[in-house]
Amino acid sequence: MPNNEELRENTMTPNLATVSVGPTPTPTRAKGLDLGALRVPVMVAPMFLVSGPELVIESCRAGLAGSFPTQNARTYEDLVTWLDTIREGISELEKPQWAVSQIAHRTYDRFAAELELMTEYQPDVVITALGSPSRVLDQIHGYGGQVFADVMSVEHARKAADAGADGLVLVCHGAGGHTGRLSPFAFVDEVREFFDGTLVVGGAISTGRGVRAVQALGADMAYMGTRFIGAEESLANEKYRNMLVNAGISGVTATAAVTGVLCSWLNESLDEVGFAPEQLAERGKIDFSNPHGENKPWKNIFGAGQGVGQIDRIAPVAEIAASIAAEYQATG
Ligand SMILES: Cc1cc2nc3c(=O)[nH]c(=O)nc-3n(C[C@H](O)[C@H](O)[C@H](O)COP(=O)(O)O)c2cc1C
Repeated sequence: MPNNEELRENTMTPNLATVSVGPTPTPTRAKGLDLGALRVPVMVAPMFLVSGPELVIESCRAGLAGSFPTQNARTYEDLVTWLDTIREGISELEKPQWAVSQIAHRTYDRFAAELELMTEYQPDVVITALGSPSRVLDQIHGYGGQVFADVMSVEHARKAADAGADGLVLVCHGAGGHTGRLSPFAFVDEVREFFDGTLVVGGAISTGRGVRAVQALGADMAYMGTRFIGAEESLANEKYRNMLVNAGISGVTATAAVTGVLCSWLNESLDEVGFAPEQLAERGKIDFSNPHGENKPWKNIFGAGQGVGQIDRIAPVAEIAASIAAEYQATG
């Protein structure tokens, strides 16, 4: 398995070379999420250039659902290696639960090859981003898995529900990465009017108290990204880690100026490339046109959500999960 340092260097470079994978194994347990079997109803959310196999495995070991975005594996072959590593790493666990997020957009040229791999490796959930969940439903349901769709508006939630998604991930205001604009207080209520499947809510949830709060709103589980960038097992480099530990809620800015869509970034990393948050409005979009330039979103401009203030040191997933579980129990 490539080590974390090598994985940290990964970039999104689709490669369609085919690798033969072995015969489809017989599933050893029922697929799909079993929320009651989780220690706390939390999915460690998929994060570009941050989530790798180790984060998934350790999340499962800690009793949470693990996940990663398939495009984090630089090539198709790397993806097969990652999936093998995860399969091996969780094989001894009684009820590991894990997900992958897959870009379902027509322009994503690894889509079909990746979908075939899902049948082979059988994650409990495939989360579709940037495309309709209908593109993966038959294949994932074929082995008993579930399909969740990542949505940021009621309109998209309705479309995904109509398309047959088993679950919806409502990415709300304050989330890291591509962030939503809606408050979970209103969003969950409106979606619950037409959807009674699994509802996952993300956006600045960094504690067990936050998990209880989204359950009180009517959701089934929390989607926690930022809190786990600070895990020892994430692919974040030292610089990123230091900035995370130093930042609080006022240390992040949501802007579309970096990638063209609204994302939440660490101010210190924006500062480093010469874009103080207060200048963003006047200077407009950051210029990434020079391929040899230094400004690379995600790689040296770092994403984080408003829950970043809960990260006061880098700790193993096991420790972070234990503290979330204790907070969750204490507010039960
Ligand atoms: C650095 C970073 C990268 C992310 N990359 C992805 C991604 O590649 N695909 C995806 O579906 N969501 C991505 N997200 C969003 C997360 O899956 C999730 O919605 C978000 O982290 C939840 O909010 P929180 O960070 O406040 O916990 C990313 C989030 C962060 C912080």
